[in-house]
Amino acid sequence: MNQLFLSPEYILQGGYHHSTLRKLQEPNTSIEAHNIMYPVFLLEDDNKVEPVASMPNVSRYGINPLISKLEELVNKGLKSILIFGIVRTLPKDPNGLSADCPENPVIKALPKLRAQFPDLLLACDVCLCPYTSHRHCGVLLPGGTIDHASSVRRIAEVALAYAKAGAQIIAPSDMMDNRIKAIKDSLVACKLQNTVSVLSYSCKFASVMYGPFRDTMNSSPMEGDRKCYQLPPGSAGLAARAAARDVAEGADFLMVKPGLPYLDIVKQTKDKYPCHPLFVYQVSGEYAMICRTGDSAEVEGILLETLTSFRRAGADCIITYFAPLILDLISKKK
Ligand code: PBG
Ligand code: ZN
Repeated sequence: MNQLFLSPEYILQGGYHHSTLRKLQEPNTSIEAHNIMYPVFLLEDDNKVEPVASMPNVSRYGINPLISKLEELVNKGLKSILIFGIVRTLPKDPNGLSADCPENPVIKALPKLRAQFPDLLLACDVCLCPYTSHRHCGVLLPGGTIDHASSVRRIAEVALAYAKAGAQIIAPSDMMDNRIKAIKDSLVACKLQNTVSVLSYSCKFASVMYGPFRDTMNSSPMEGDRKCYQLPPGSAGLAARAAARDVAEGADFLMVKPGLPYLDIVKQTKDKYPCHPLFVYQVSGEYAMICRTGDSAEVEGILLETLTSFRRAGADCIITYFAPLILDLISKKK
């Protein structure tokens, strides 16, 4: 007889026969409300609600219906949101000037949201693509390539405007080199560095999974693609260098985006920077994909297993359109 089968040190099942014991075998994989951040789409029209065709149960909101929606979710335990502004009547120009004008929906909403929800953590996505006429994430040179200096200057200006309006986390998604330092420097210059954090979209890949988001925002580039600033999907090396650079430039938190196809990058980033909270963005395409998998029990099962994989790989917070469902699942469990 094979000796292995008789040897007690190879018996694992003795360690997880009870649900309480199983919990001890799964450290740092629980999903609580503070592990979730909810992305919201904000319209200029204060009273409008528009369902998003490509994402079930996701809508764009004007500030008034957004406040009602958030009231419901905050009562269920929601701790943080990530705000994306959408403009249609404000002009789009090559420099994205509507990103930080006084009529910008995000700038107008921040003081109201701070007043209405004193305990809700408000993060703002910072990018130019929702506001530029060419719909790229930075400012362009005449040939259509990125103007690095102008892009970073603009991104830092927009970031500072959101911080002054009340954003508690600045989250630049543009992927321009060195914007973290530029943003931190401008926060320091305005004495905001200790009340506003910077969440870098440090490891953001040029993914095909952003489609439903770009439909929602109407932000697909008019010409070309984003492969010269978002990272090549096969490059773990550039992801490591980008995280190292952003840590050196003062990022408070790092991010991997998308989530599921990049779990190795999640682990690599957490292993290297265990002291920086790590965010994972479960993007619009991942959301749409999971929504299509089956009935609600299957969707919930796949969702929970997926969230667990993010946590196991090292994610501290998951940015997800499933936040409302997750809050319901958390309260059902209690
Ligand atoms: C761009 C931006 C993107 C997302 C958020 N901000 C990607 C892109 O359009 O290139 C994707 C979010 C998602 O798919 O859910 N600044
Ligand atoms: Zn962008």
